[in-house]
Amino acid sequence: MWKLHPVHMPKKPGYALNNIRIMALVSGGGSNLQALLDAEKNGALEGGNISIVVSDRPGVYALERAQAAGVPALTAAPDKTISGKLRRQELSDRILDLAETYRIGLIVLAGFLSILAGEIIQRYSGKIINLHPSLLPKFGGDGMYGERVHRAVLEAGEKESGCTVHLVDAGTDTGPILLQRRVPVQPDDTPGSLAVRIHKQEHIAIVEAVKIMVQKLS
Ligand code: GRF
Repeated sequence: MWKLHPVHMPKKPGYALNNIRIMALVSGGGSNLQALLDAEKNGALEGGNISIVVSDRPGVYALERAQAAGVPALTAAPDKTISGKLRRQELSDRILDLAETYRIGLIVLAGFLSILAGEIIQRYSGKIINLHPSLLPKFGGDGMYGERVHRAVLEAGEKESGCTVHLVDAGTDTGPILLQRRVPVQPDDTPGSLAVRIHKQEHIAIVEAVKIMVQKLS
């Protein structure tokens, strides 16, 4: 009968036991991605590790931020020869392939404008989070992104807005809410001025949400 002996592994410096490999999905400037990269650098991500950044748009600044941080950065653009739901699904399947190849444990939609659909939603159930610039369930759903959201908030005469991080399910902006940060609407707000104040809160919210998820998934 063989006896089992404990194996001693050399511990790499800075290696966190609860290491969760994260894929960040982006579409634009990537200031939320930067908040995550900075948090990881400062050891504030609870062992979360941004392992790959994928953009659905070529040439966006978020990709440069990833490269500057030494994180692999790829573009996976929607295939314009396919229409409607199939286009979403085809892009989602490519992202799922990448997630599996990179052994990703958590997918973070940090300013990602495409909608994920199909198998990735089941395979990564409870492991995909999205950041939305309103207090969901208000002002969410298909077509509600960027300035459109803030314009709708002002037109509705809301006294407050904010941002939400939620788990992604098969709907659009419908998954369980993880956390929200609130921002008062000022009488002289424009969609742009409101967006700026909410953006600052997003940077805090996304880091907080990733920490919660890393702890939960470890
Ligand atoms: C944020 O307002 C986010 O809520 C929305 O897209 C914007 C992305 O900003 N989904 P950035 O690219 O992280 O600077």
